Amino acid sequence: MIRKITTLGGYIREYQESVENPKLFWTHQAEAFYWRKKWDKVLDWNFEEPSVKWFLNGKLNITENIFERNMFLRKDQPAIIWEPNNPEEEGITLTYEELFKKVNQFANALQKMGIEKGDRVVIYMPMIPELAIAMLACARIGAIHSIVFAGFSAKSLVERINDAQAKMVITSDEGYRGNKTIQIKAIVDESLTDCPSVENVVVVERTGGAVDMKAGRDIWWHDAIQDMPEENEAAEMDSEDMLFILYTSGSTGKPKGIVHTTGGYMVYSAYTFKNVFQYSDNDMFFCTADIGWITGHSYIIYGPLLCGAKTLMFEGIPTFPDEGRLWEIVDKYQVNQLYTAPTALRSLMTYGEEPLDNKSLRSLKVLGTVGEPINEEAWHWYHDHIGKGNCPIVDTWWQTETGGISISPLAGIIPTKPSFATLPIPGIQPVVLDNEGKELSGRNVEGNLCIKFPWPGMLRTIYGDHERCKNVYFSKFKGYYFTGDGVKRDEDGYYRLLGRVDDVIVVSGHNLGTAEIENAINEHPLVHESAVVGYPHEIKGQGIYAFVVCSELSTGGEEGIRNSVIKGVSKIISPIAKPDRVQIVSGLPKTRSGKIMRRILRKIAENNYSDLGDISTMLDPDLVDEIIKGRIG
Ligand code: WT7
Repeated sequence: MIRKITTLGGYIREYQESVENPKLFWTHQAEAFYWRKKWDKVLDWNFEEPSVKWFLNGKLNITENIFERNMFLRKDQPAIIWEPNNPEEEGITLTYEELFKKVNQFANALQKMGIEKGDRVVIYMPMIPELAIAMLACARIGAIHSIVFAGFSAKSLVERINDAQAKMVITSDEGYRGNKTIQIKAIVDESLTDCPSVENVVVVERTGGAVDMKAGRDIWWHDAIQDMPEENEAAEMDSEDMLFILYTSGSTGKPKGIVHTTGGYMVYSAYTFKNVFQYSDNDMFFCTADIGWITGHSYIIYGPLLCGAKTLMFEGIPTFPDEGRLWEIVDKYQVNQLYTAPTALRSLMTYGEEPLDNKSLRSLKVLGTVGEPINEEAWHWYHDHIGKGNCPIVDTWWQTETGGISISPLAGIIPTKPSFATLPIPGIQPVVLDNEGKELSGRNVEGNLCIKFPWPGMLRTIYGDHERCKNVYFSKFKGYYFTGDGVKRDEDGYYRLLGRVDDVIVVSGHNLGTAEIENAINEHPLVHESAVVGYPHEIKGQGIYAFVVCSELSTGGEEGIRNSVIKGVSKIISPIAKPDRVQIVSGLPKTRSGKIMRRILRKIAENNYSDLGDISTMLDPDLVDEIIKGRIG
């Protein structure tokens, strides 16, 4: 078992060890796990290619570390506690033994359907227990899962399936989300006309709604597991064998398939789970994310289950059937650690304290947030009204690429400060670089957040495009991993995240590339070109502002184009990517070399154009006045 840090002195000591002798430090952590064969070298790395390998030639299976390793002590202990969308419906609790059997059963079914080690399996599912079972079954047999959040459109799904060359898709008939029913299988069907690599589709029956089942291709989950044994011999994986691919938006073009490998991710997700949340045996842990995001991978499934924790999985949304739902769940299951996003808190705050009436919330010990900077108002609301002033807040900074929490307080151990992610996790060596790549040492500095030494949970590559991995993360500042975030280190040495420095917008904690949204807008037949920037948004953190140039106006006029642009983006990417504001302009401000001057558009969207900076390189300066006049908001 991973030893927990319990005091500030302990943190300082462990951090120091992790920097002075990282190999020894991570050896100690990795020794807490079950390896079929121990590694013969701890670390091999360079950030030039880049090439990062941890626990070289170690052999293991991550599910053996979740199940066989926990079986003696926790056979009958709950592993996953599932709360359905509708509180009137009965929940499901799976003990470690029950979950183990279900995973094995489905693993056998996958093998029978011809899925082998190394094959890619896309999972497109609502938050139901079979989602967890499917991902663990893939890991059991060495198949690589790639989970696509079920809010993504058919087109986004096609892109991901084809990039991963997935052999199978696992899905459900429909999904419940608040008072809506989502036609999940229908979206998969629409996608699969363009996905030649997919041979089979496994369909879980969730709602019983009518779906088309294509003969020879589609199989019901309950039929697939029929007569399958409840034992399955875990595949022997190398430390550096791929565990999963998870797509995330980039600042340009198509989404990036972030690759995580088995050994390092296992050690890092478990280590950070235990230490950041200070999880103790029998605590009830509740992370409200969807498993389709990295937060769900690392802190609903892998981190907690590797630590033998009780992890709550919620199918629904915080406002159904009413705005008190999350708090009701906290009381119902006596949740001890709650992990959610600032955007959820900001939206729940708008309902005031009434949804908190008749809620005790006394079981809570630790509150966590992730996904974007948390503003002070939300921080205090969380602290005072949810934590009743007694629970430390862990503002956890990390990324799909880092695999696990990287800068964060350890609950109750590192003193917190609102809107600061505070200090690095042991093993993480953050540096602040100026734009020329010079390290800014000492206190009170601000610049680009980079990490200068590898950690076990870091990405290994972008699936199928190592060159892009190098360009995006390892080229801008030679010898460093570049996060894309701006950061300030204050007088206490605490880190405060300042938002993205590249063309990524973080909307409600979801990472969206401006280029991807622009591409979607440009598919509109009347749109000539467009530029998308972020602006401060009260609830979502950042809103999406689109400047659109049209060749002509349709009969619906500007309003007509606006609406169809918004609809188009929802359909092409997802409703989460749709612009909040669409301004029709006659042209975009460009440099003489034709580069869109986003800096200026950003200032206009932010309503902050007293100082537009240097516009001497601009092709058509009059355009700026016109755009300012037509500004929306
Ligand atoms: C980006 C990564 C990691 C899971 C969720 C998002 C922003 C994340 C924080 C935080 C300030 C944060 C960063 C980061 N971000 N957590 N606590 N404070 N910003 O994963 O989609 O890969 O997005 O989210 O900008 O780079 P992701």
